[in-house]
Amino acid sequence: MIKDVQQEILRMKKENDVCILAHSYVAHEIIEIADFTGDSYALSVKAKTAPQKTVIMVGVRFMAETVKILSPEKKVILAHAESGCPMAEQMDRDTISIVKSQYPDYKVVCYINTTAELKTICDVCVTSSSAVKICKQIPEKNILFIPDCNLGAYVAEQIPEKNFKLLQGGCPVHASVNEKEVLEAKAKHPGALLLVHPECTQEVVKHADYVGSTSGIMEFAKNSDAKEFIIGTELSITGHLQYECPDKLFWNLSQKLMCKNMKLNTLYDVYNAILGRSGEEIELDGETIEKARKCIDEMIRLGG
Ligand code: 13P
Ligand code: SF4
Repeated sequence: MIKDVQQEILRMKKENDVCILAHSYVAHEIIEIADFTGDSYALSVKAKTAPQKTVIMVGVRFMAETVKILSPEKKVILAHAESGCPMAEQMDRDTISIVKSQYPDYKVVCYINTTAELKTICDVCVTSSSAVKICKQIPEKNILFIPDCNLGAYVAEQIPEKNFKLLQGGCPVHASVNEKEVLEAKAKHPGALLLVHPECTQEVVKHADYVGSTSGIMEFAKNSDAKEFIIGTELSITGHLQYECPDKLFWNLSQKLMCKNMKLNTLYDVYNAILGRSGEEIELDGETIEKARKCIDEMIRLGG
């Protein structure tokens, strides 16, 4: 049954000139039919070069907005209309405009997990895989980093020569894991390496053997000689890695690491989105696209 739906999607996407981009957090059966799968940074870069006229983003809203900003001439559809990222909604343009006026000599660096509207007033965007590299290259010493204070704290630690101002935002899923769970998981799997996403809190990150983006974690596990890993990011990554590396063992750091927004995306959403029966076409006005694009182009320039 799943195979039949997948075959039909593959046929329809070719016929309708559709490119399917899937974030690594979505289900295995969607990843199998995607043209490209990756972390937020890789998806943004890929979006620029995809030759198809229509892009279906299977992920969360800010990812689809990023595709639209980089390719305004394309029809961009978010596969599940309600799949948003709570972190991206935490800070709005008006609030950050006020904060900016209080820190006039700070460069504003925003995580890509923000709305298109907020990006219009930021200087440069970063992703978890590019944040350290980009912040190091910014000539200014003072950086206002929004919205994720956990990612911000991790980046600040890597660049002690710079001065970071952080605000209280972040991913409710990753931030829900605590140090006690880390110690329990390590005690249960004493030989395993701990790989975590920098959206986790510092009390978790400090115990990690590797800290990186979703793709970074997957690459590290695949290339490592180690045989056992505790995965400190969304539960789907543990499953994907177990498929790809059947000779290794993968454990979830915490059962709380479940992003219900990413989980909203189903194979049938993709099928229905191609047929125009579900999903949401992303519409952004010209001014928003132009201003937000500067911030994303700067990310690609410095992060490439
Ligand atoms: P990545 O940049 O690692 O894909 O992270 C996106 C995200 O939303 C993690 O929760
Ligand atoms: Fe947003 Fe967190 Fe879900 Fe990533 S895991 S999409 S940051 S809520």
